[in-house]
Amino acid sequence: MTQDRGKTLLVTGGCGFIGTNLVRFLLNRPEGWRVVNVDSLTYAGNRVSLAAADDNPNFRFVHGDVRNAEAVDAVEAILADGVDATMGRFNAGP
Ligand SMILES: NC(=O)c1ccc[n+]([C@@H]2O[C@H](COP(=O)([O-])OP(=O)(O)OC[C@H]3O[C@@H](n4cnc5c(N)ncnc54)[C@H](O)[C@@H]3O)[C@@H](O)[C@H]2O)c1
Repeated sequence: MTQDRGKTLLVTGGCGFIGTNLVRFLLNRPEGWRVVNVDSLTYAGNRVSLAAADDNPNFRFVHGDVRNAEAVDAVEAILADGVDATMGRFNAGP
């Protein structure tokens, strides 16, 4: 993504297991990406795990459902981790 320098990236489910590490990784990259994390904070989401990123001007947290179009407005790339990853529940309502 080197051609995407300075762009705004959307991470869905950034408070989950993979998303938390993905957000940290992206914010530490030299490209200067802005990261918007949209997470609905289900049982699997942990807001505290990204508390340190709140001081980063390139980071914004949106408490919302990724299925809500307003929550995902004005981004240029999407990195999707925001699903209920529990197999039975995902199959019942993906
Ligand atoms: N963890 C693994 O080993 C693994 C392996 C392969 C693939 N995956 C896939 O990677 C993705 C993330 O996995 P994970 O382990 O980080 O999951 P996780 O359950 O730890 O995190 C999911 C996050 O998504 C959020 N979320 C759920 N529904 C949402 C919605 N509608 N809108 C916004 N946020 C929502 C939750 O609050 C949570 O923070 C899943 O698609 C999973 O199937 C995970």
